[in-house]
Amino acid sequence: MQQTWHVRSWRNFPILQQPIYPDLRALEAVEETLRGYPPLVFAKEIRTLKDALKEASKGRAFLLQGGDCAESFKNFSADGIRDLFKVILQMSVVLAFGGRCPVIKVGRIAGQFAKPRSQESEYVEGVEVPIYRGDMVNSVDIKARQADPQRLLQGYHQSAATLNLLRAFAKGGLADLAEIHRWNLDFVKNNDLGQQYEALAMQITQALDFMQACGVADLPALKETDFYTSHEALLLNYEEALVRQDSLTSKWYSCSAHMLWIGERTRDLKQAHVEFLRGVGNPIGVKIGPNSTLEQLLGLCEALNPQNEAGRLSFIVRMGAQLQEKFPSLLKGILDAQKEIVWVCDPMHGNTIKTKMGMKTRSFTHILQEVKDFFAISHALKSHVGGIHLEMTGQNVTECIGGSQAITEEVLAHNYNTQCDPRLNATQALELAFLLADMLKTNSTMRC
Ligand code: PEP
Ligand code: CO
Repeated sequence: MQQTWHVRSWRNFPILQQPIYPDLRALEAVEETLRGYPPLVFAKEIRTLKDALKEASKGRAFLLQGGDCAESFKNFSADGIRDLFKVILQMSVVLAFGGRCPVIKVGRIAGQFAKPRSQESEYVEGVEVPIYRGDMVNSVDIKARQADPQRLLQGYHQSAATLNLLRAFAKGGLADLAEIHRWNLDFVKNNDLGQQYEALAMQITQALDFMQACGVADLPALKETDFYTSHEALLLNYEEALVRQDSLTSKWYSCSAHMLWIGERTRDLKQAHVEFLRGVGNPIGVKIGPNSTLEQLLGLCEALNPQNEAGRLSFIVRMGAQLQEKFPSLLKGILDAQKEIVWVCDPMHGNTIKTKMGMKTRSFTHILQEVKDFFAISHALKSHVGGIHLEMTGQNVTECIGGSQAITEEVLAHNYNTQCDPRLNATQALELAFLLADMLKTNSTMRC
């Protein structure tokens, strides 16, 4: 890791979880095309997010990061983007109002198209086929499992179109607090959670009316929001082609998204993903599973954040039932070493189970338990909970069991649409936000 970094230096390191492209010349042509395309996000926005995350590391803000496990080319629609945006706004209002804390909104969106997998191949009806690695690599359809570099271009274009809409929503009216009642989705409105939200929205509307009467309701912060994008930086050919040098600071930024993370399977210190991400100025997340060691975590701090800047590095902890046993000593070790970290809880990836019918699901009860334990451990060690990382959607899916709708294993098949891992539906996500708001309120580690 001591050599000089450059945009291609990752190519000198071992790399995991990459597609095998049958035609490398076609891949190079796609990379060349991407190098000529405009950046998807801008250095100044990236720096603003990093500053906001610094606040989260100090317990003065809370990161809400969520979206699909894997975005889809086929199920790409304006309504899907709008509904996720609305639920994230709803959740942030619940967290900000209940938890009295600014909320940093980051979607797993506009680039979350590539998946690390445990197996190289799978058997479908007795035939061995390459595993599905996300729409930017191949198709879920077993007839199109060959990795195709043209899909990188389609991923770029879909990300650009998604960002275009997100920017319009964030700055062009939908995020105006005066629209707060419109954020409640039709299928959520009439259930208990929708009504609980409506009651809170009424209180906010009354406060806004009062501010209007006092002549102070014209603040930009009430009329628009900042919404950031993020994804797992898995496909380094794509990521490299979207690195740009900022003309103001001469720093390198990965302009495929505001925040990038390294997955649990590719965070080896001596390998390509850590090498690539150490050189770009974006805020970086690293997924931290139950088998992580303190030595690895300290190594990641050294490699990815040698200046120990607050807001640069988030550890996204995903340990499931092993959190109680494994997390406290790691957290203590990093706190003792005085490393600046945004500690984020991902209660999804350590809690995936298979039903008797062989469907992947997650239980709302287990998810909630991991969040509660995360708060309790952080509280005991006087650390700050920096945020939450969720797989969720604005659609009315049945992918996770439990929650106030009491989704059972039997009804999972009714609306099971995920491309990869099971997501919280809008009602479950909102329910979790109310429970989180209570935790923020009673948690003395927050300084909001
Ligand atoms: C994911 O976030 O979808 C994922 C694959 O996570 P992890 O790397 O933590 O398994
Ligand atoms: Co996932």
